[in-house]
Amino acid sequence: MCGITGYIGYRKAYPIIIQGLQRLEYRGYDSAGIVLYDGKDINLSKTKGKVSDLQAKIKNDISVKGNIGFGHTRWATHGVPNHINSHPHLSQSKNLVIVHNGIIENYDTLKKELVSRGYHFHSDTDTEVLINLIEEIKTQEKCKLGKAVQLALNQVIGAYAILVFDKKKPDELIVAKLGSPIAMGIGKNNKEFFIASDATPFIEYTKDAIYLEDGEMAIVKLDREIRIYKINDDQLVKDPKIEQLELSLEQIEKGGFDHFMLKEIYEQPNAIIDTYRGRLLPDESIIKMSGIDDNIERFLNAKRIIIVACGTSWHAGLVAEYLFEDIARIPVEVEYGSEFRYRNPIITENDIVIAISQSGETADTLAAVKLAKSQGAFVYGVCNVVGSSIAREVHAGTYTHAGPEIGVASTKAFTTQITVLALLALKLGKKKGHISAPNFQVYLQELIQIPKKIKLLLEKDEHIKKIAAIYKEVPNFLYLGRGYNFPVALEGALKLKEISYIHAEGYPAAEMKHGPIALIDDNMPVVVIATRQGHYEKVVSNIQEIKSRHGKIIGIVSEGDSVVKGIADHIIEVPETLEAFTPLLTTIPLQLLSYHIAVMRDCNVDQPRNLAKAVTVE
Ligand code: AGP
Repeated sequence: MCGITGYIGYRKAYPIIIQGLQRLEYRGYDSAGIVLYDGKDINLSKTKGKVSDLQAKIKNDISVKGNIGFGHTRWATHGVPNHINSHPHLSQSKNLVIVHNGIIENYDTLKKELVSRGYHFHSDTDTEVLINLIEEIKTQEKCKLGKAVQLALNQVIGAYAILVFDKKKPDELIVAKLGSPIAMGIGKNNKEFFIASDATPFIEYTKDAIYLEDGEMAIVKLDREIRIYKINDDQLVKDPKIEQLELSLEQIEKGGFDHFMLKEIYEQPNAIIDTYRGRLLPDESIIKMSGIDDNIERFLNAKRIIIVACGTSWHAGLVAEYLFEDIARIPVEVEYGSEFRYRNPIITENDIVIAISQSGETADTLAAVKLAKSQGAFVYGVCNVVGSSIAREVHAGTYTHAGPEIGVASTKAFTTQITVLALLALKLGKKKGHISAPNFQVYLQELIQIPKKIKLLLEKDEHIKKIAAIYKEVPNFLYLGRGYNFPVALEGALKLKEISYIHAEGYPAAEMKHGPIALIDDNMPVVVIATRQGHYEKVVSNIQEIKSRHGKIIGIVSEGDSVVKGIADHIIEVPETLEAFTPLLTTIPLQLLSYHIAVMRDCNVDQPRNLAKAVTVE
């Protein structure tokens, strides 16, 4: 996700836009840019790096005059973060300029058509394609910018929030939205307007705002009300709702949530949709992943997959071990980056090494990648930060499109990593003939349902909060799971440890009788993942062993479970799904449980003590 912000009115646009970009940096911060119209020229400046780098550059770069303009702070999805790929983007004629937040899935097809019509591209971005598509339509149809934008967006597949300006018609801004947020602040008597990804850039100027709905486009001109049209049929939207903003600046940045971590837990349905968007195509019954498609022989001939990662990403790697061996029948080993890099491992050219890293900057994982490459392995990356060190070091890869993860405790990174790894395992399983076409379709259709099922789970937040209140002072927790949910038990324990500072351990449920059961007493809460899929009866026996020793049981169970309900002290029900996808659901209540306990213990949830978001040192 990126941040966009624009202004048109009687004030100088530059200070408003720059301050707005600073407030939106939580949405993305790998490059930034601004465009201002000074009454004669479009003045554009952009740079890799943060808004502060843009400010430093502007001093010697452009005139900051003008009362209309907009800016962008980027979270790269197409094209690595650099000067050329940063926004704003100009059309070929340099008369039109755009900023964009979102992903255009069919940009490649559109780009090829524009190239055939003589267009040249400077960047790797989908956004530059869009502004030239708008220009082409405006030229061919001899129409106004608003009409050209509307016609262009009807050819676009994907998500967008855009701001477009035409130097030839400098008294208006065109705004459009599908899938990415846009708020429009309304100045007194329509003497000024603010357009931004959220209200943080203009909250001190006006409390009146219109939030564009999906599929709507707005023409913003001074001294008249904003006009909003439906993109698909050009219908004027009558009496758009004007919201009265009450949130504080800080609350808006966190989307109204108390912490970034909670916001990011709730973002998971959309983050998973953004991650499989354009890749999971159930109607065609295919999974499209260029990183795999371009190297498919490597993967089909691989004798082994070695997964290297740290922390939560290592837990995602453990889930991937079950996915790849169960679905694609490829042997997998999962290694801590820190161990792998020093233990003189045996690596051959027939190995594929998959590096999983949200930040793409974890030193131990990066070192493991370099070691694997030096020994001839093919290295594949699953990262969230485009252009990060690991993303640039690997031979190929697939990005999770989780958007910036600000909270130190990984949440949406974990579920989007599992989404990518599930797509990889399914794609290879199908290609290797281990999954029938009907069964493959069942997986695809179920994966599409996961975001909805997570939304249902998030509705149990209050119930989970009540459980958290009971156990917020205990000294220890145990987390148990089997099969696909053993890694989830480890992840649940890590979440609790790192934000509430309560000691917690995760174990395979059957391991209890090999020692840990000695820990059980009535002051030891045990979270047990006991969904119907995967060794259910055996987990129920493990629960009974604990119960008979007065342990407290918090059961994570399938909806409608009555057996565990009759034994456990508390249950949290999760929707049914395929066994392979249970980690995407069972991890959600564990994230919320650790979050609420940490908040009740007055811990710094977003920046826990001793931790950093990216461990870039050994
Ligand atoms: C998880 O909540 C922690 N933030 C930490 O374990 C993290 O997963 C680990 O440092 C790996 O980070 P990466 O995914 O950015 O490589």
